[in-house]
Amino acid sequence: MTQTATEPQHQTFPPPADLAAGAVATADLYEEAATDRLAFWGRQANELLTWDTAPTQVLDWSDAPFAKWFADGKLNAAANCVDRHVAAGNGNRVAFHWVGEPGDTVTVTYADLHAQVQRAANALSDLGVRTGDRVAIYLPMIPEAVVAMLACARLGAPHSVVFSGFSAQALRDRVDDAQAVAVITADGGYRRGEPAPLKPAVDAALETKDGVESTVKAVLVVQRTKGEVAWTQGRDHWWHEALAAAAPTHEPVSVEAEHPLFVLYTSGSTGKPKGILHTTGGYLTQAAYTHRNVFDLHPETDVYWCGADIGWVTGHTYIVYGPLLNGATSVMYEGTPNTPTQDRWWQIVETYGVTKLYTAPTTIRTFMKWGEELVSGHDLSSLKVLGSVGEPINPEAWTWYRRVIGGDRTPVVDTWWQTETGGIMISALPGVTTLKPGSAQVPLPGISVEVVDDEGRVLPAGHEGAGYLVLTEPWPGMLRGIWGDDERYRDTYWSRFRDQGWYFAGDGARRDADGDVWLLGRVDDVMNVSGHRISTTEVESALVSHSSVAEAAVVGASDPTTGQGIVAFVILRESAHGADPASIGQELRNHVAREISPIAKPRQVFVVSELPKTRSGKIMRRLLRDVAEDRQVGDVTTLADSSVMASIQAGMSAGKSSDG
Ligand code: WTA
Repeated sequence: MTQTATEPQHQTFPPPADLAAGAVATADLYEEAATDRLAFWGRQANELLTWDTAPTQVLDWSDAPFAKWFADGKLNAAANCVDRHVAAGNGNRVAFHWVGEPGDTVTVTYADLHAQVQRAANALSDLGVRTGDRVAIYLPMIPEAVVAMLACARLGAPHSVVFSGFSAQALRDRVDDAQAVAVITADGGYRRGEPAPLKPAVDAALETKDGVESTVKAVLVVQRTKGEVAWTQGRDHWWHEALAAAAPTHEPVSVEAEHPLFVLYTSGSTGKPKGILHTTGGYLTQAAYTHRNVFDLHPETDVYWCGADIGWVTGHTYIVYGPLLNGATSVMYEGTPNTPTQDRWWQIVETYGVTKLYTAPTTIRTFMKWGEELVSGHDLSSLKVLGSVGEPINPEAWTWYRRVIGGDRTPVVDTWWQTETGGIMISALPGVTTLKPGSAQVPLPGISVEVVDDEGRVLPAGHEGAGYLVLTEPWPGMLRGIWGDDERYRDTYWSRFRDQGWYFAGDGARRDADGDVWLLGRVDDVMNVSGHRISTTEVESALVSHSSVAEAAVVGASDPTTGQGIVAFVILRESAHGADPASIGQELRNHVAREISPIAKPRQVFVVSELPKTRSGKIMRRLLRDVAEDRQVGDVTTLADSSVMASIQAGMSAGKSSDG
């Protein structure tokens, strides 16, 4: 989004003196990492993790772009997140203050996690799950989601968490791609004050389709809403019964550092989601390191809250692995921020004395819309550091966040990273960096980035034009590939700047005169809606799967709340001509929500008679974006038929649109 990239705001915020005085991360970290980057990462791995066999190697990049970090080390992720804290005498420390949407609460200590994760690992093992098998997790934001992930990690069975807002079809695609042998789900969860069923989507997903059986042999079902569920004998098992029947102790499986920890699907620029593969030792090192330093984590006293969902990478790294590795106490909340009232979050911050809060710009802008009064009635003086992630944060939202939520006192760290990077890459350090609203600022110690032009020339600080963000050195949390598709891995990330050996992030960026990085949004066909990545092709495929649609083109148009909004242009089939554009628009929006997820629902659907194409047949999205953003349409000379845009605009102004 270009709005964040205009002129850097002149106002800056030095670190608060008391925070700087006791900060976990100090300026010498930069120096240490710059002196010997690999030795620096080696130290982090050894200090932050507990290894069964300590690694002697740091990085093996000989098979680039397939990295090996800490390759001769062995460890277990769940033992690092849980067992060692219990062994150190911290079993009574709270791991999660969990808050259910209806108001029920659960306090989960590290000892509780230890007991449950062991039983869950045994239950999975009793159901036939073996080290290396993939397990899909399709759960709402309940404590069992964390237990399920850690139980998989304990067995060395990579998890594939599928966001519970995804459709049955999306779940099936992901189960098939990873060839998952089991699914862990729930009867339902609470959303917007209502129980929302989940199990029916699993049943639909696992049906035999076109004669093809799913690879799933077992389904574990957590009882949350206690609604009626259909049951497949032999396949379905209640979580509580399976755990009660399982043995109480379980020896964690010691795996090699490069053993897969999880696969997480994310949208790319084609319709098929990519299974991003993360392995154990490097990912955990970066998760622990970034969580500790970026949030200035003091585990004995902090109460940390990340408002993401475990279905996204932010939930993986900053609800589960980072905080648990560091022995943190977290808040975990099941529901929506406006249920039952719009100040639910601030009640929670006040009740638990939250000190560190991590959320997305779209959420902050929603709170801005709801008004400061909702915040001012609450005592938020416990807050010390605020974080932002998911998209560029515009300076207005940044300053509002700091002033209204942070009481004009707290640093706000804008953290840039991706599913692929595993953990935070660019961010201020709250006790070190003088903050500049709207800029993600500087790479963390140990991370190397540049902003470059099309030819790979480095754009210096203060360079006027925008370039591409690249990562110039491998990092421990980096993806190790795309599940089952090495070629796509090379093509997507490593081909654009092959000669230099740089990772292409897919984000536009510029560097201001101080060298601070400003992110400018995606440069590919990926949209960013409320911090969720959705590809234009994915939505287009969903639209053309509807019987009324002949052709579709989708663009992301800037949106004041969600960052981008999805705008679709569709050509109807002959059979649907004469249909009421408003009702067909509504029908298509619902269709996309069913096919993919409500998060992919177009904001607007425009029925048009033609789409702007080049002579080679490529849709010119740039022009459609102009229309969707209500701008004057740019250069049309490369169109096969230059009158198309005029007819689209005429059709739209004649009211042939739908934005119900
Ligand atoms: C965008 C989420 C600007 C960016 C952790 C990136 C950001 C994509 C920021 C990854 C930020 C994330 N400033 N843009 N602080 N954080 N992005 O994989 O376009 O869901 O490439 O990971 O979100 O989205 P993903």
